[in-house]
Amino acid sequence: MTEPKAETEKVVWQPKIIAFVCNWCTYAGADLAGTSRLKYDANIRVLRLPCTGRIDPLFILKAFERGADGVLVSGCHPGDCHYNTGNYHARRRWTLFRELLQFVGIDLQRLQFAWVSAAEGAKWADVVNAMVAHVRELGPFEGYHAMLAQSGQTLWLAMADGKGGNGWGRGVTCAPAVERSKGEKKTE
Ligand code: FES
Repeated sequence: MTEPKAETEKVVWQPKIIAFVCNWCTYAGADLAGTSRLKYDANIRVLRLPCTGRIDPLFILKAFERGADGVLVSGCHPGDCHYNTGNYHARRRWTLFRELLQFVGIDLQRLQFAWVSAAEGAKWADVVNAMVAHVRELGPFEGYHAMLAQSGQTLWLAMADGKGGNGWGRGVTCAPAVERSKGEKKTE
């Protein structure tokens, strides 16, 4: 007699890592890793953006909200950004964003930042393997979802500058657990 599927197959948890990378350096580096046939963990999903300066911190929150166990942000080395200063802006945001993440209760070990150039395919493979191993050790990121379930609503950071921007670098205000449905306009 065949045993029920649930008893015969153990579901092995695999970490889900989202990587936001810039088009010009890290994406090309990841491509080089592929064309060089370097092997690295397949637990990563790469999202390509023009520059790390384009990465809105809400992208990262959304990734966690949609089930990511870890998020990696990677771009050109300082001084090599194809838009001159995009990665400097990203680095400043990063410092501020870490504090905001702590404020909403996100484990900072699940978020990493790296510089990987187009010539660093091997470094990309190393960064990915290290990140996957680290998140594997940490286990599934259930804390964030427990927090969402507790508040019973979508967690948003209100990064309002009052002008429709994302507020980075300009008097950021932060409020936890502000519910904002699609299309709803800010009233503050
Ligand atoms: Fe790569 Fe700006 S183009 S970080």
